[in-house]
Amino acid sequence: MGRAVKRVVYDERQIADKVKEMGAAITAAYPDGELLVLGLLKGSFIFLSDLVRQISRPLQVDFLVAASYGDKTFSSGTVRLLYDPETELEGKHILLVEDIVDTGRTLGRLMELLSDRRPRSLEICALLHKHIATDLKHPTKFVGFDAPNEFLVGYGLDHAENFRHIPYIASLQ
Ligand code: IMP
Ligand code: MG
Repeated sequence: MGRAVKRVVYDERQIADKVKEMGAAITAAYPDGELLVLGLLKGSFIFLSDLVRQISRPLQVDFLVAASYGDKTFSSGTVRLLYDPETELEGKHILLVEDIVDTGRTLGRLMELLSDRRPRSLEICALLHKHIATDLKHPTKFVGFDAPNEFLVGYGLDHAENFRHIPYIASLQ
């Protein structure tokens, strides 16, 4: 078997309270216009499903699947879309939802790709932020937790595709 969970970093109660708070902040931040919540798969799937249920305004949901061409290309910042949202982006408020911001490279490239689609606005929402991002030109407007610089799993986050289903966020052994 692989690695084991070391310590609970954010429990279910803390996550639920935080997501509720973030939903309220997002509701307040977008008074008018169409809102499209774009989840970056796979890591955001649990966070996104809880988050949209805490946003009290009309919205649409779609997803993005991004892939890099292996580690070397990844560090040069090249990202390719494996699934491109079918929903029209032009003229809408786009909220890109990410599980965790680490170096911010994935997001940096995605933001360029998405701004080419002429959205009305384009912002990032991340449940966790390690605040070690050096490449991120675009600040993360909505952040849940300032995460410790440890490898975290659970609530959608994986290690080699495992642990995504764990209902809390933990660090690995
Ligand atoms: P970045 O481009 O370096 O910001 O990488 C962000 C992506 O790396 C996230 O969407 C996660 O999929 C993954 N990642 C970064 N840190 C962690 C972690 O602590 N646990 C699990 N996945 C992580
Ligand atoms: Mg991942």
